Amino acid sequence: MVRGTEMDTEYGMHDADNFEAARRPAWLYDETRPCGVDYNNTTLARHYDSHHRSFRDYRKEADDIVARLGVDSSSTVIDMGCGTGAFALCAAGRCRTVHAVDVSAAMLRRAQRKADKMGLKNIEFHRGGFLTYDHKAEPADAISTVAALHHLPDFWKLVALRRLASMLRPNGRLFLFDVVFSFDIREHKRRIEQFIAKTREQMGPNGQSESEAHVREEYSTCDWIMEGLLEKAGFHIQAADYHDGFLASYLCTKAEQ
Ligand SMILES: C[S@@+](CC[C@H](N)C(=O)[O-])C[C@H]1O[C@@H](n2cnc3c(N)ncnc32)[C@H](O)[C@@H]1O
Repeated sequence: MVRGTEMDTEYGMHDADNFEAARRPAWLYDETRPCGVDYNNTTLARHYDSHHRSFRDYRKEADDIVARLGVDSSSTVIDMGCGTGAFALCAAGRCRTVHAVDVSAAMLRRAQRKADKMGLKNIEFHRGGFLTYDHKAEPADAISTVAALHHLPDFWKLVALRRLASMLRPNGRLFLFDVVFSFDIREHKRRIEQFIAKTREQMGPNGQSESEAHVREEYSTCDWIMEGLLEKAGFHIQAADYHDGFLASYLCTKAEQ
């Protein structure tokens, strides 16, 4: 069972049962509706870790993020779009409290089962998302979000980033990793085809169809747009790292109000 199901009072939702219900204003982007890869699919959630562990090292990624965020055993951290807990479970061993948030009940269930097996008591799981999670606990010291923000169109990314800033303490930090396009637009056809070929090599045919769906249907944006969104949302970008024209990570600090 997913614990801690409080939802967004800002939008009049208080629990997960209301998550998909009509109390959401008709104008609000429906972040529960999958675009591209469907993370609500229980079979996908079941196989997510074996698929991702074939090309990722969760422990190394999490240790790097913890170090970059500068968090320790006194810190409260939010993992937005936590999936099956790649970051949240490792971070729980290093931090005081981790709030693990995701719109997909299937992904959250996997994360929670793993946390239970590991005997981790300091993770709170919340079904919600960038636009609907209501952070009722103390302001967080840091937020990490890995490969999740691209599920929102750009306007909603800005709303989401502003909401993340509001969950942080003054000078709190944000680590954002995502697929962000930093190649020359004149070369987009060749670069996208190279990217798809590379994902097939690294992740097999499933990886290929996921990356095709990503480019076709999800909302990855350009580097200059992402930097503008972060700044408009109230973050100072301390470091922006671009890799291969497709991957980006940002380390940001919440700007003084
Ligand atoms: C590629 S997975 C990444 C999961 C995890 N962060 C990781 O590093 O493995 C994307 C995750 O984002 C979640 N997601 C999609 N839209 C979201 C939203 N609006 N708010 C929060 N999470 C969202 C999906 O349910 C999925 O678990």
